[in-house]
Amino acid sequence: MTDRLIIFDTTLRDGEQSPGASMTFEEKLRIALQLERLGVDVIEAGFAASSQGDFEAISQIARQVKDSTVCSLSRAHERDIERAGEAIKAAARGRIHTFIATSPIHMQAKLRMTPDQVYERAIAAVKQCRTYTDDVEFSCEDAYRSDPEFLYRICEAAIAAGATTVNIPDTVGYATPELYGAFLKDLLEKVPNSDKAIWSVHCHNDLGMATANSLAGVMVGGARQIECTINGLGERAGNCALEEVVMAVRTRRDYFQLETGIHTEQIVPTSKLVSSITGFPVQPNKAIVGANAFAHASGIHQDGVLKSRETYEIMRAEDVGWSANKIVLGKLSGRNAFKQRIKELGIPLASETEVNEAFLRFKDLADRKSEIYDEDIQALFKESAAATQRDKYTFVSLHQQSETGEQPRATVVFTEDGVEKTSTAFGNGPVDAVFKAIEAQVQSGAEMQLYSVNAISGSTDALGDVTVRLSKAGRTVNGVGADPDIIAASAKAYFNALSRLSTEVGCNPQHAV
Ligand code: KIV
Ligand code: ZN
Repeated sequence: MTDRLIIFDTTLRDGEQSPGASMTFEEKLRIALQLERLGVDVIEAGFAASSQGDFEAISQIARQVKDSTVCSLSRAHERDIERAGEAIKAAARGRIHTFIATSPIHMQAKLRMTPDQVYERAIAAVKQCRTYTDDVEFSCEDAYRSDPEFLYRICEAAIAAGATTVNIPDTVGYATPELYGAFLKDLLEKVPNSDKAIWSVHCHNDLGMATANSLAGVMVGGARQIECTINGLGERAGNCALEEVVMAVRTRRDYFQLETGIHTEQIVPTSKLVSSITGFPVQPNKAIVGANAFAHASGIHQDGVLKSRETYEIMRAEDVGWSANKIVLGKLSGRNAFKQRIKELGIPLASETEVNEAFLRFKDLADRKSEIYDEDIQALFKESAAATQRDKYTFVSLHQQSETGEQPRATVVFTEDGVEKTSTAFGNGPVDAVFKAIEAQVQSGAEMQLYSVNAISGSTDALGDVTVRLSKAGRTVNGVGADPDIIAASAKAYFNALSRLSTEVGCNPQHAV
């Protein structure tokens, strides 16, 4: 007999709280539709009361997603719950996830409320949520550092008030597997009506134990919902990674005796989509979705795998969506092959004109690069998606000079609100000269938090994929750019980040939480 494990994805809410990971309306929608394709049970689409942008994104996701429950987070505040209720109104299945902190430090220092006040607020919030939907989740923020006696009381009352899921977060990533599992088990035993709700785990990864803690919460504690994110994105060190828990449960079905509804072959495409939209690269040795997760380098391992795959592989790369033949297209590929490939990659193309434009960009790239990989095609679309958002700044061209012993000099041509501008500067290196030239004109005053370059596919003619993280006045954004010339890719990423800084993208819900 196997039990069903509910997969609750919070990439669009907790994941978006990572500094620099804020997403536009269109980006959120694309990820939500991919999460639906992946088969997640619940999509936490955002925090409706945190911004108008988040409210609209949740509402649109609620209208378009049919197979997954669409959820909005909400503090235990009347106005927050109203916004969450309105945002999920159109959903085929909608959930409100309301939360309040229950640990002594959070109640005293942050909320400045007594436990009794928190208790009353929680009950009122759950009751109000029930006026919008029958599917209500209640979370005790910082539950793992809360007094268990208080948790028994508040969880029992929340269930009696109508909560159908009760979530026990390890908000600060302080738990260990044995302790967290035992904590959940004790709660389920001591809360008299615990059998009337589904119990959920939500673990942060500050000590690198989010996946282990979540699975202990399920196996030892009896939870049947795991809250997780793609690539483990999330506040600080992130959340439990969806791909890890799903593949652990599937690979060790003999032990877990649990089923999920995840279509595992969609894991890698979803990981790539989230990484390309957020500009957060996936580390090569990351379990399941890292580029090396199925690579065998040592001669002994290679020999073993060639003789029998199971000698060193516990999962099949194809089962999580790594394509066996990664070279997909080249200069001689036709329009139909191209169209078929972008469909397989889950890239939405609405009209024939869009297909034609994309095909021209592809041909242009194929002229410069002999083998076109899936990642190259995704990078092409990432750029065009940025362009269709009508970026305030767009890259036109650059001229750059550098010689050993000389200070590099760059001239950059770009548009600002459609008006062409040119700027020149010297720098400590070619990229530095480009950024200085841009800043000499734009004078954004933004501070650079991160600059990273990745080769999208393994060879020296690969597209360089650059991420630039800028921050200004409390906002942090990531910009991305791809080009076989990494200096041009850097300029594109810088303009993309500047454009994002100049508009309201997504929300920064951590300010509200
Ligand atoms: O980590 C946490 O406690 C949260 C809650 C809002 C569920 O993200
Ligand atoms: Zn969290």
